[in-house]
Amino acid sequence: MAEDKQIGKIKVTVCQDKQEVARVAAEIFAKMIREKPDLMLGLATGGTPVDMYQMLIRMHKEQGLNFSRVRSFNLDEYVGLSGDHTQSYRYFMNANLFNHINIDKLNTHVPDGKAENFQMSCQQYEKDIQAAAGIDLQLLGIGSNGHIAFNEPGSPGNSRTRVVTLTERTIKDNARFFQDESEIPRQAVTMGIGTILEANKIVLLATGANKAEAVVKALKGKVTADLPASFLQNHPDCIFILDRDSAAGL
Ligand code: PGA
Repeated sequence: MAEDKQIGKIKVTVCQDKQEVARVAAEIFAKMIREKPDLMLGLATGGTPVDMYQMLIRMHKEQGLNFSRVRSFNLDEYVGLSGDHTQSYRYFMNANLFNHINIDKLNTHVPDGKAENFQMSCQQYEKDIQAAAGIDLQLLGIGSNGHIAFNEPGSPGNSRTRVVTLTERTIKDNARFFQDESEIPRQAVTMGIGTILEANKIVLLATGANKAEAVVKALKGKVTADLPASFLQNHPDCIFILDRDSAAGL
């Protein structure tokens, strides 16, 4: 059974294992989609959310969870990769979620990794989020260095969607998704911390012992750009859903 605690403003749910993390998170998403069929989601990529996406696909197929009016904006994309590149985050979202549910792909948004003018495309991404009345429910992972989306250590709390340079640690963490480390893009487009903090509700998932140190600092450390996830301590409605390994330091 999952165990709930409160650390500052953040609600923390500690689950037995990563399957329970996926189940608890998927239930929150499903409940909110049922309550508001045109829910605006902020979505994330990486290894952590895959099990939750599987669970949502199952809920769609077996219980008729309806995504036909759901809209989404993803957190980030690699610079230089087009949406049909198998390591792009657009490709990831289609393969791991969108192709298996009844979402209208026209209502799904991932930053453009091949923009001609990134300054303009980043500003437009922010405008598009605002025009859609903002994000109701934002999903996040956390990097082993405490990043959220690709807001690496040093990212200011008021940062907006922009191009960033990835740290060596993030490149190493993500090397498992690529054939060769040299193929990993060195830059990405990411929503800013300020953008993320404007979501009405935020759900952060973490699994595995390599996240334990970042999780403790995010929840109990001081709020600092050195550990970007610590800015979540200021959010009024944020939940961390953790497995026992990532919660080991709490
Ligand atoms: P992961 O990435 O889910 O692949 O561990 C999380 C993140 O870097 O935010």
